Amino acid sequence: MTCVSSDPAFRAPIGVHDVLPPESGRWADVVTRFARRAGIFGFGLIQTPLFEHIEVFRRVGEHTDVVSKEMYEFRDKGDRHLALRPEGTASVVRAYVQHRPLPPWKVWYFAPNFRYERPQKGRYRQHWQLGVEVLGLDDPAIDIEVIALAAGFYSDLGLRDLRLIINSMGDPEGRGAYVEALRSHLLIYSDALGPEFVERVEANPLRVLDSRNPEWQSVIETAPLISDHLSSDASAHFEAVKAGLNALGIEFEVDGRLVRGFDYYTRTTFEFQSTALDAAQNAVGGGGRYDGLAEAMGGPPTPGIGFGIGVERLLLALDAEDVVSNAKGNSQSVFVIDGLSGADDLLLLTITASLREAGISTERAYGGRSLKAQWKAADRCGARYGVMIGKAELEREAVAVKDLETGEQIEVRRDQLVSWLQESFEENYE
Ligand code: HAM
Repeated sequence: MTCVSSDPAFRAPIGVHDVLPPESGRWADVVTRFARRAGIFGFGLIQTPLFEHIEVFRRVGEHTDVVSKEMYEFRDKGDRHLALRPEGTASVVRAYVQHRPLPPWKVWYFAPNFRYERPQKGRYRQHWQLGVEVLGLDDPAIDIEVIALAAGFYSDLGLRDLRLIINSMGDPEGRGAYVEALRSHLLIYSDALGPEFVERVEANPLRVLDSRNPEWQSVIETAPLISDHLSSDASAHFEAVKAGLNALGIEFEVDGRLVRGFDYYTRTTFEFQSTALDAAQNAVGGGGRYDGLAEAMGGPPTPGIGFGIGVERLLLALDAEDVVSNAKGNSQSVFVIDGLSGADDLLLLTITASLREAGISTERAYGGRSLKAQWKAADRCGARYGVMIGKAELEREAVAVKDLETGEQIEVRRDQLVSWLQESFEENYE
């Protein structure tokens, strides 16, 4: 019986959610594939704390919504000003600055992030990201590799309706002239667009460019482009990235208005958008360079690049494209059935244990349930085979194996059960 609590205190807060089986099986599949791919590309797993000193995220000059408006911040009992991590990059760079590993340093993560956003489909107050960060390399080759890692991951999962948008944010030194040109352009519209617009333009006009406010769009469309103001170094870097992506056959579009939602970005920025999702929540991943971030946290000047992929969005995009997860799931599993009415519990225990030790995913019924109830449970859990020990089988040192897909039943010698199942699973493995 499902028990639904009506007391709101005992329901998950708005904007956050549980992930239960069988849905969690898709998560496990996605994370496993990402871990394997990141390992092949030479990345090691990093885990950073869920909360940090607020300065890690709220650095001087960080005017983005994520950091200035949406952060879960609090004071602990020792009056420390802390914040729940709104994103992964700043924490990873803080860890780099603190531990000073030898560069190049390549790490991947699977971690929850917290943003006080207006919850809607694909936008939550806790979301999970799979991501990578590389510290200590400014070679455009690593930009290409990082983008290729993400692109290959999406295509391995079967996503097709995907666009890769890239841009260059240039270098901070060269950005001043551009920011001034942008500010002058935007300020012409101050009277028409009101105080919130003016406030943003004054704090950081780049933050107008990534706004979705419909009233601002015509002004954004005519704004000067950062890509027209690149230094020759930044421009050469961007050309090398584009040439590399072309060489790997990775399709992309250049969009001079892609500024992304953090002030730390420099040079290459990119976003993967699903054309199967609504435009407001279509980014299934994004990232870029942040060559000044380590230094801004008191570390040595160290270039960096990475990306974060939103797992909930990724699964929504897979659903929207009707991509069935390639997870093998229960098609490789067994349900052990007690046909002896509890007369030999130890036999049931040892058979189940020997199957599991052999790496076969195995379930069983507990508590002396009727045969009918056990077969029903086997069906419900989606097992491929039911393995039953009844009186007759016991005498012959055998078990009955029923294929739950076809209904066919055969007898297998008990000492050959593991190898029989392994062979059968191998045959059925596409
Ligand atoms: P971001 O674009 O803010 O970048 O987030 C990365 C991805 O997380 C988004 O593309 C989206 O798929 C997902 N995401 C973001 N916010 C939400 C939300 N409220 N609900 C559901 N999904 C969400 C970053 O966080 C950077 N740290 C990425 C990065 C890594 N740049 C360099 N290295």
